[in-house]
Amino acid sequence: MDRAFIDAIPKAELHLHIEGTIEPDHAFRMADRNGVELPWAGARELAEAYAFDDLQSFLDVYYAVTAVLQTRDDFTEIAESYFARAARQGVRHAEIFFDPQSHTSRGVDIAVAIEGLWAAVSASSERHGLTSSLILCFLRDRGAAEASTILESAVPFLDLLSGVGLDSAEVGHPPAEFEGVFARAAELGLRRVAHAGEEGPPEYVWQALDALGAERIDHGVRSLEDPRLLERLVREQVPLTVCPFSNVRLKVVSDLVEHPIERMLHAGLLVSINSDDPAYFGGYVGDNFAGLAQEAGLDAGALRVLAENSFHSSFLDEDTRARHL
Ligand code: HPA
Ligand code: ZN
Repeated sequence: MDRAFIDAIPKAELHLHIEGTIEPDHAFRMADRNGVELPWAGARELAEAYAFDDLQSFLDVYYAVTAVLQTRDDFTEIAESYFARAARQGVRHAEIFFDPQSHTSRGVDIAVAIEGLWAAVSASSERHGLTSSLILCFLRDRGAAEASTILESAVPFLDLLSGVGLDSAEVGHPPAEFEGVFARAAELGLRRVAHAGEEGPPEYVWQALDALGAERIDHGVRSLEDPRLLERLVREQVPLTVCPFSNVRLKVVSDLVEHPIERMLHAGLLVSINSDDPAYFGGYVGDNFAGLAQEAGLDAGALRVLAENSFHSSFLDEDTRARHL
């Protein structure tokens, strides 16, 4: 399938960690500028470290690289780079995750992260022809008390945030632990999403829905193991933001041929395609679409439905969605 055709399909990207968009050469440029020492000799060595066994082995590298982010401009710059690349691959709307705890734990104030990202988000329409918003994610392996603290520290920036999410090491950190934090987020008027069913069991997807009130499930591929859950997700049309390249690189699935995306689509799930951490997993959202077309044989009709689903899964209002379709 023609790559220009794939990139021309309008898309919304809903599962994208902005810290996962730092390309190796960009990481070293920022490290040099900020006097930060990275545990790799250079961009090539860092790129070579991008061979992962599972989610944790990826997260270890991902958190180490965040050390290069020191100033507001650094945050603005990574978001700008992402928007430029995403726009070239057909992204017209992006709801972006960021992990404030990965910055505050290094002594970088949450204001630096939020204001830096906001400078790019607020200009994305004018500069890149795409709308965007910010979703603050809690690192589930650091527990609910810390999540609560970070949420309260974000209250002065409430107008700059569209929602909250839950990410990082999944197994052993069930969503239900964060029930109180998500209830507080809802009270603050924030939308709610959660990573569940990536490495964790279907039970975590149930908990994300019932304990957290998650309006979208990030990944959710393991939902296929539970017929009752599958039936509910189809009936309620709960959006699942699926990330094929990520699933292959983190060994959630063996390869794109084995990826269940087509089965999910045929089961009637509201699935979309997203890039997760594109600098680490081999490509941006258009690259994921192209990979599915080339390797898993998805046809133009399937790609169009997946792209339309991304708008139906977004937090855009009905009228704005309709204008994209
Ligand atoms: N899963 C969980 N946490 C993450 C991911 C992911 O795919 N990417 C960045 N943080
Ligand atoms: Zn993710």
